[in-house]
Amino acid sequence: MYFSFYANTQDLCGANHKMDWWREARFGLFVHWGLYAVPAGVWNGQTTPKWNGEWIMHSMKIPVMDYEKLATQFNPVKFNADEWVLLAKEAGMKYIVITSKHHDGFAMYHSAVSQYNIVDATPFKRDVLRELEQACKRYGMKLGFYYSQAQDWHHPGGSYKRDEQEMKYWDTSVTRVSFEQYVEELALPQVKEILSNYAVDIIWWDTPYGMTEAMATKLIEPLNCKPHIIANNRLYRPWKGDFETPEQYIPPTGFDYDWEVCMTMNNTWGYRADDNQWKSSETLIRMLADVASKGGNLLLNIGPDATGTIPQPSVERLQDIGAWMKINSEAIYGTSASPFFKLQWGRCTRKKEGSENLLYLHVFNWPQNGKLIVPGLKTKPSYAGFLQGNQEVSCALSDKGLIITVPNQAPDPINTVIKLTFTGDYTIISNKPKSDNKGNILLPAFTADIHNFLTIPANQAYLNTENVFDYIANWKDNRIKVS
Ligand code: GLC
Repeated sequence: MYFSFYANTQDLCGANHKMDWWREARFGLFVHWGLYAVPAGVWNGQTTPKWNGEWIMHSMKIPVMDYEKLATQFNPVKFNADEWVLLAKEAGMKYIVITSKHHDGFAMYHSAVSQYNIVDATPFKRDVLRELEQACKRYGMKLGFYYSQAQDWHHPGGSYKRDEQEMKYWDTSVTRVSFEQYVEELALPQVKEILSNYAVDIIWWDTPYGMTEAMATKLIEPLNCKPHIIANNRLYRPWKGDFETPEQYIPPTGFDYDWEVCMTMNNTWGYRADDNQWKSSETLIRMLADVASKGGNLLLNIGPDATGTIPQPSVERLQDIGAWMKINSEAIYGTSASPFFKLQWGRCTRKKEGSENLLYLHVFNWPQNGKLIVPGLKTKPSYAGFLQGNQEVSCALSDKGLIITVPNQAPDPINTVIKLTFTGDYTIISNKPKSDNKGNILLPAFTADIHNFLTIPANQAYLNTENVFDYIANWKDNRIKVS
């Protein structure tokens, strides 16, 4: 049984274009920042389990009174809203989503509903979300608030992962109250507060543990008079919201619904001092192209520390992405999913501008023989050239598709973008495997996504295209998966 608001909220509110800027944006910054940045992954000398930073209160079973004391130590004097917003802007990001209250229940804005907030409970006493809101306004950045509407480990009625099942609430000094009471006296008034006091464009719900239909209906109500606000799908199951939220993975193909991948640069959302497993800039730049080529947005996370500093490796990666975006952003903004099923050498995004059709070829694996084959493309473009330096390249149609003549060296070894312009429509014969008359589908090796487990190139599986038949070579480790 789906309940009444099983619908895209834009249908309810009659505002049809609210997703326009979001689809155009394709790239945003996620910020997980809260009291958990103080312990930074260590409690009483014990390190929290892997991949766990903002979950420290839950995983270390920290009593409420002890966790609350972190507020008195939270004094992020290095916080500078302008710097954060400019860093995102320079990276080519168009929106920021920040934790207004994570599962630990601490409000990062000045809440009149609970004193457990950054202004009333910390020596810092500044409303960082107000400062960010104003900086976003100054620099034309859209803003979203993450709000943990169900899980709240601080309020005695908030839900928590594994409640009811194997785990009793860890702090036995707390007299528990009902979930309804929590929603009525904390979550709902805070949601109303956020929506009426701050200029937000997105509300980002999370982890609907214990959420009931009745409570979800109440929480969604204040959105009805804010038809421009976009909401994700995590309020309540099976509510779809305005977009889906694949977390920490890139779906192999896109969806027929708006979607946004949220992804960390290392392994943790909130700051954790010992998490040094950073994804490379190369991985992240290609990831952005990959997500756009499937029609989605990428929300890339940072976890600032307790001084208000963004970890240097994150800054460097954002700057590297920004350098790539300076040249290539038109291949990301406002693009739609690739018209090709699969491309061996990389990805494709597309766009329509007036009567012109544009294809952007994102080349990750540069051809060794100076010929880049665009399989199945039957129309010759009126223009083909690199975005870098606007250098034109020559191309010709063949029975395999369009063959583009390229120099031996990739202009950008991470992702060189070649733009193809068509004055009208183009035709592509799809290379998507079809079923034979018995219903069998042969999946050629080139259709596979290879998920390497190890980072050392010599230990990675790869697609070998040097022989008559393509095959996946060097697949020696059973942790390597192919999908
Ligand atoms: C999860 C986690 C959380 C993080 C979020 C980001 O659901 O509970 O800590 O905020 O994912 O998507």
